[in-house]
Amino acid sequence: MQFLEDKVIAVTGGGRGIGRATAIDAAKAGAKVVVADYGVEMDGSEPSSDVADDVVAEIKAAGGEAIAIANDVGSMAGGNAIIEAAMDTYGRIDGAVCVAGNLRERMLFNMSEEEWDEVIRVHLKGTFSVYRNAAAIMRKQDGGGSLIAFTSGVWALGSIAQPNYASAKGGIVSLNYSTAVAMQRYGVRSNVIAPVANTRMSANVPGGLAETGEPEDISPMAVYLLSDQSKEITGQVYTVVGKRISVWSQPKEVRSMFTDERWTPASIHERIGTTIKHEELDMFTIMKEMAARAAAVKAAEESAGTV
Ligand SMILES: NC(=O)c1ccc[n+]([C@@H]2O[C@H](COP(=O)([O-])OP(=O)(O)OC[C@H]3O[C@@H](n4cnc5c(N)ncnc54)[C@H](O)[C@@H]3O)[C@@H](O)[C@H]2O)c1
Repeated sequence: MQFLEDKVIAVTGGGRGIGRATAIDAAKAGAKVVVADYGVEMDGSEPSSDVADDVVAEIKAAGGEAIAIANDVGSMAGGNAIIEAAMDTYGRIDGAVCVAGNLRERMLFNMSEEEWDEVIRVHLKGTFSVYRNAAAIMRKQDGGGSLIAFTSGVWALGSIAQPNYASAKGGIVSLNYSTAVAMQRYGVRSNVIAPVANTRMSANVPGGLAETGEPEDISPMAVYLLSDQSKEITGQVYTVVGKRISVWSQPKEVRSMFTDERWTPASIHERIGTTIKHEELDMFTIMKEMAARAAAVKAAEESAGTV
């Protein structure tokens, strides 16, 4: 018995990078796959149906079953069309993996409304549009279903020039929790992967990535979470990179302070440092490491005479 035998799985962003690896591995595991990809450039421009078509051709050449759909996940109609394509062709939807994403990088104080909206739309609404339409069918079908979304470590760490992207990725984690608690009674699960892999999206990180791997290192975890073998798992967030899989803690309050009277700014000031004891943001440490890596790359280029 293969991990995804007889299952119908939709993968958004299935034409490139991590989505492509997931679509191909899902088909290898026995799934019928809806490869959904708008075929756009990193900033969302120049849509093309070629990338989804190419992955479908690759799956079919290897003896698998797949159909392509090239539409924008950032609208309700776009998300619905993906689920309808699965229903029209295969008659059910067992899993949906929301991988599609774009980038519009800018410092907070320079970011335009359009740059904010477009990234929130594609990542967060593009996950909601698929989750919502898949869940409406999964809750009524035998066997429920498995939903998987993609976040990034920046959802919790913050990101210097990606306030839109980090906020969308944080919203996706919150959507995961809400979906997990609301849909458990219907046998529908939701989990999130925070990947790191060499793709066009990760190509321009200043100083390079400290830890990375290939898209094919991520897809086995997606296949596992889609399968019935993981049916007890819901509401989790995993980092997947290279040979490492880590689970995130469930966010919770860690320390409290109490007063007999109502708090005043002065009494808060007096107690907060010793009682609440703030932790420094991990990103401050990461920023120092990134600066050191960027400086080392620049020094190596200068000594090699390439700049
Ligand atoms: N690569 C990494 O290291 C990394 C790190 C953290 C998070 N992620 C996340 O993983 C996911 C996949 O990233 P990737 O590196 O494979 O990127 P990628 O750019 O290689 O692939 C993304 C795909 O999404 C498609 N897409 C973009 N906008 C779309 C839209 N509106 N509708 C439908 N399809 C659309 C693109 O055409 C593209 O094929 C993204 O959500 C990304 O934020 C990646």
